[in-house]
Amino acid sequence: CQWQDGRPAKQRLLVVANRLPVSATRKGEDSWHLEMSVGGLVTALLGVKEYDARWIGWAGVNVPDDVGQRALTKALAEKRCIPVFLDEEIVHQYYNGYCNNILWPLFHYLGLPQEDRLATTRSFQSQFDAYKKANQMFADVVNQHYEEGDVVWCHDYHLMFLPKCLKEYNSEMKVGWFLHTPFPSSEIHRTLPSRSELLRSVIAADLVGFHTYDYARHFVSACTRILGLEGTPEGVEDQGKLTRVAAFPLGIDSERFIRAIDLPPVQEHMKELKQRFAGRKVMLGVDRLDMIKGIPQKILAFEKFLEENPQWRDKVVLLQIAVPTRTDVPEYQKLTSQVHEIVGRINGRFGTLTAVPIHHLVFGSLHLKRFFFTSVCVDVALVTSLRDGMNLVSYEFVACQASKKGVLILSEFAGAAQSLGAGAILVNPWNITDVAASIKYALDMPADEREKRHQHNFKHVTTHTSQEWAATFVSELNDTIVEAQLRTRQ
Ligand code: G6P
Repeated sequence: CQWQDGRPAKQRLLVVANRLPVSATRKGEDSWHLEMSVGGLVTALLGVKEYDARWIGWAGVNVPDDVGQRALTKALAEKRCIPVFLDEEIVHQYYNGYCNNILWPLFHYLGLPQEDRLATTRSFQSQFDAYKKANQMFADVVNQHYEEGDVVWCHDYHLMFLPKCLKEYNSEMKVGWFLHTPFPSSEIHRTLPSRSELLRSVIAADLVGFHTYDYARHFVSACTRILGLEGTPEGVEDQGKLTRVAAFPLGIDSERFIRAIDLPPVQEHMKELKQRFAGRKVMLGVDRLDMIKGIPQKILAFEKFLEENPQWRDKVVLLQIAVPTRTDVPEYQKLTSQVHEIVGRINGRFGTLTAVPIHHLVFGSLHLKRFFFTSVCVDVALVTSLRDGMNLVSYEFVACQASKKGVLILSEFAGAAQSLGAGAILVNPWNITDVAASIKYALDMPADEREKRHQHNFKHVTTHTSQEWAATFVSELNDTIVEAQLRTRQ
């Protein structure tokens, strides 16, 4: 243990993620405006006081000149962030291409891109090369900043090649890797041309974490079936080296949501919404505009519900808040127009001169306040992802329901279904008839059942917090190292 000001210094934690938790806007040749984001990972790590955390990642902007890069590096240092500079071509091939057009859909069971096979194979290879190159660039920056005793925590599908690059620099480095998406069945993973290289790299880490036990199990099966390694109750063993694999379900900072409910602007906004939708029940959907979120299917289920229940037509409204994302990827552009088209058709079909059944609101980014404002006064939330690593919107909704006791309709294919399943109404989002029936059930649900379901989920959300998640992962990563040292000494 090192010492600082007469006290043991906190252990340094290097958090490596594709994106830094700040958005950077250039204001001049050497000046930048930075805004911290309020994402789940940032809150989780802010709550972990026993480590001295720094972030390493891409700032999300192209900075081709040295002056701009130096100024941004300096500005970010004040926020304990260290940038990795990626040029436009790398971003195109690595981020838009390999990460978001190949790995993201594959890991969510949407398969590999359906292009001409040869063209796919050719572009696949160049995208994979860019992916490895980008991961190597992250590794270079980590290595420059690494000090003995640090813990390095790599995040998500963007950085599957990173553990191997880091261990090549320094085999003593403590490296953890956590996946925020599902890890699919090994039968899906084996369709990926670079399947073995990615698995081999990930198991170079000391600890590999997933949101659910199923994802961890799929990963171990992929290593045994594709790499021929041995799966053990602790993880995967390769020539005597054990990589621990386990589930660490992420949570939220529930206190932050609960405290916000009594704030005067929230109360004021609730009053406004109540007046605006007086006499109507309010349903809410909040999603990144992503194909995995099942937005078209959700809206079609709502249409079916209106079709089958004419008595509800002027008594319910769906607020569907969409946050655009990855807008350079063609699949995402197609989705945006598809959603607009379906909403327009349904509003034309069931709307009146004074009211429409769906309010489709596209927000550039979702500010926490706006989320509270809306979710504290809704009757039913619809989270109908086709696949989702965890889905924290469902947790945030539950945290806001202390007074309203709103009902959560939740996809059985979201990681959150494993923890909130008993309190939510679980649905198969592909089964539009089933979702329509669940909407009716939720709207008609008696108060005592709402209360019971809410209590179950509220207890879970308030006891399994993001801070606890981060603290557990890092402490297990430290333990993994101790175990390895003991094993070598024996
Ligand atoms: C998911 C991923 C994150 C990612 C986020 C936003 O939650 O697991 O790693 O940062 O989506 O996507 P973006 O591509 O905008 O960073």
